[in-house]
Amino acid sequence: MAETKGRKTAGRGRMEMRKGPPAREPQVPLPPYFNISPDAALAELEAPLTTAGFAEIARSCAQGREDLAARGLDAEGRRSLRLFSTWEITRYLIPVATAHFRRVLKANPDLPQGISETEGGAKWFTLDEVLRLRAHFAAEGSKAKEYRPYRPAGLPAKLVAVANFKGGVGKTSTAAHLAMSAALDGYRVLVIDLDSQGSMTSIFGGRVADEWGTVFPLLARHYAAHLQAENRVRVARGDPPVPMDETLTEAQKIRAGDLIAKTHWPNIDLIGAQLNLYWAEFQIPVWRMQGRSWKLWDALTDVLAEDGVLDRYDVIFLDTPPALGYLTINGLAAADILLVPLGASFLEFDSTGRFFDMLHSTFRSIEEGENIAARALGREELAFEWDAVRAVLTRYDGAQQAEMAALMQAYMGRTMAPERQDFTALIGQAGEQVNGIYEADYRDFNRDTYIRGRETFDATYAAFKRLLLGIWRREELAAADAAE
Ligand SMILES: Nc1ncnc2c1ncn2[C@@H]1O[C@H](COP(=O)(O)OP(=O)(O)OP(=O)(O)O)[C@@H](O)[C@H]1O
Ligand SMILES: [Mg+2]
Repeated sequence: MAETKGRKTAGRGRMEMRKGPPAREPQVPLPPYFNISPDAALAELEAPLTTAGFAEIARSCAQGREDLAARGLDAEGRRSLRLFSTWEITRYLIPVATAHFRRVLKANPDLPQGISETEGGAKWFTLDEVLRLRAHFAAEGSKAKEYRPYRPAGLPAKLVAVANFKGGVGKTSTAAHLAMSAALDGYRVLVIDLDSQGSMTSIFGGRVADEWGTVFPLLARHYAAHLQAENRVRVARGDPPVPMDETLTEAQKIRAGDLIAKTHWPNIDLIGAQLNLYWAEFQIPVWRMQGRSWKLWDALTDVLAEDGVLDRYDVIFLDTPPALGYLTINGLAAADILLVPLGASFLEFDSTGRFFDMLHSTFRSIEEGENIAARALGREELAFEWDAVRAVLTRYDGAQQAEMAALMQAYMGRTMAPERQDFTALIGQAGEQVNGIYEADYRDFNRDTYIRGRETFDATYAAFKRLLLGIWRREELAAADAAE
């Protein structure tokens, strides 16, 4: 439109030139990169930065971060979760009519009654209270209704890794929202942060002092157990054992339970991450060199199983860094379900394709390395397997990206979930003390914006839950078959 107009003006300009003097061009300011005076630029410049300068910048950022984080804290200095209203509970959390909900509360004065801000105003409940109410409805209410989400007895928790080596594609947002949705749905959730950036840890208010508060000691313990077993063989052969260093000795005392922290969500726990977790990327290859038969990719799964974590939770979410390092490999190998978030842009599609290529070559080379020995010894061969792998479209803008998304869908087929997680202003704008849609109070938003934003993340969760239930059901039926 603007272009056509511009051309017309230029045409008229040429016509006028033939007739007489040209009309004066309107004064358009020059782009800002012309006419910069080197002396003025010098006057603005500070002295060159030394290494110490980084420390100063980091200190300022840390102070600002503390300030922002403190705004969301309660009197004890902990984060607190907002309350949930009767409207929200009966619309989103417990499928009963509002009038029936009120009647049940009245008839059962021992149940949480909620608090109201004004005389006779709406009643608000903590999530803990919502969970107690749900338990009551599940025990006393209609058996035909789904008050509790499906979870086959006796089967372990499902591990879900959210990964993509491309940065900023929505891994942490997707993992955090799914964890919150699953918790609101009544599942017991554990979140494990494998990213030393610690974004997930910040979202859940985790405080981790150093690598000893992360999964690092669990991986070290797995290696220590391997080394001990190898040393027994060495000693039996008459060879000297490889000495255990202090790290490995200390790690042997640590259980997953020592690292799991409560969060401001009553049914979400956290194993957090911190910058020092990055050290694992240097330490793991050293251990692997020393103990070549150490199955590092089994470390996380083995340790979580050994420590009973898989029985204490329903779903475990692993947030991974934007890299295919040792921590990501551990997370991916431990995962039953792999979710790969990406946006509908050429660069993200391109890079995600290469991510799948890297997954193939990485896991294939691990399998090949293992299976040379396995074949020689007539042992069962190693073959990694995932219950389901899904690419998840994030930050989707239907007005701009429909064509790109359709193309990606056509090429990726079943691998790409058809649900699209819309770009929503509710993320990031919710305020410094709340993270994402489920923590935001709907009264802070236009109700339609809230409902639309919530719908898109509810749809992402519904798609995930369908996968989860299908997988659990498959296992339940297989277990029943095996028992016959
Ligand atoms: N659906 C959405 N709508 C709007 N903004 C979003 C949405 N999902 C994520 N974002 C924003 O996009 C940015 C990147 O998201 P996120 O941190 O989840 O990506 P990531 O893949 O975990 O990044 P990294 O690779 O650094 O770990 C964040 O600022 C986040 O708030
Ligand atoms: Mg992230």
